[in-house]
Amino acid sequence: MHIMGKEIVVSGIRSTGFLHIGNYFGAIKNYIRMQEDYQCYFFVADYHSLTTHPDPASLKPNVYRVLAENIACGLDPEKVALYVQSDIPEIPELYLMLNMMAYKGELEKTASFKDKARANPENVNAGLLTYPTLMSADILIHKGQFVPVGKDQEQHLEMARTFAQRFNFRYGDTFPEPHPFNFGADLVKIPSLDGKGKMSKSENENATLYLADTDDLIRKKVMKAVSGDAPTEMNSSKPEVIENLFSLMNLVSEPAIIENFETHFNNCTIRYGDMKKQLAEDMVKFIAPIREKAIAIQEDTSYLQGIMKMGAAKARESAAKTLAEARKNMGINFYC
Ligand code: TRP
Repeated sequence: MHIMGKEIVVSGIRSTGFLHIGNYFGAIKNYIRMQEDYQCYFFVADYHSLTTHPDPASLKPNVYRVLAENIACGLDPEKVALYVQSDIPEIPELYLMLNMMAYKGELEKTASFKDKARANPENVNAGLLTYPTLMSADILIHKGQFVPVGKDQEQHLEMARTFAQRFNFRYGDTFPEPHPFNFGADLVKIPSLDGKGKMSKSENENATLYLADTDDLIRKKVMKAVSGDAPTEMNSSKPEVIENLFSLMNLVSEPAIIENFETHFNNCTIRYGDMKKQLAEDMVKFIAPIREKAIAIQEDTSYLQGIMKMGAAKARESAAKTLAEARKNMGINFYC
């Protein structure tokens, strides 16, 4: 499967929660761009979700949905390896090896571990502690060079580099050091509709637009967005909540429409009700086809399972190669 000369990108997608337009513009859109130029391994991180003991019955619908939503957004399972982490037994095997070079002290110092341990003191399990080693195995198993992740994952990625270095130092050059894939100026922040921070899976669901939201729900959420009074002075600077509405419009509306509202803002004739109505309709136009496609894919279980199997076959081909090399370098090669 390895196409000569293409650099390797690996990224894990959480299996919990519904995808929202912040995920779309922040991550998925970049995945879609990368699939053209890189050898991409994208997977649903279902093992990672076990650190918080999810209900067994919820795993399958969550995994199906996240795959379907990514495909509906334009991820092409023919171009990338799209798979489920638990279909690749080589990952837990490498995870075991990497755990031998991950120190308790450094794992305990990880910010995400400290946060989760504080939030759930009754469930500080070893899987939670070694979350960064599993994530490192996800990446190193394909000799991943670039990982498109947000700021919150940078510390984990740094640990992946540390484990790669340690392995290489002890057992000889095996793994390249993975680096964050930086989209630089293209990285957009998607503001939430309540004027507080950005859209997020876990915070205010009424201020977040999900790819699974119905048309009416989208309209309802957008119409409730915080706006305030129209400006009274010509060409004033925009309050943050208004800046946010314009930012959201920039994602989905025609330039001429945005221009028109800009003009009305500048000459104090803007009516935020009209602006929100427009934004709502443009969001509906953007989200509805993705939602419908995602639903159709989720209903077609045999199609989805075919995609998962094809992705797993591609991923296992690369994983088996790396693992054989790691085992050999460690001295676990008793039959040759
Ligand atoms: N930890 C990542 C998150 O919470 C998900 C993830 C798991 C991941 N394994 C990965 C991301 C490997 C990139 C590479 O979003």
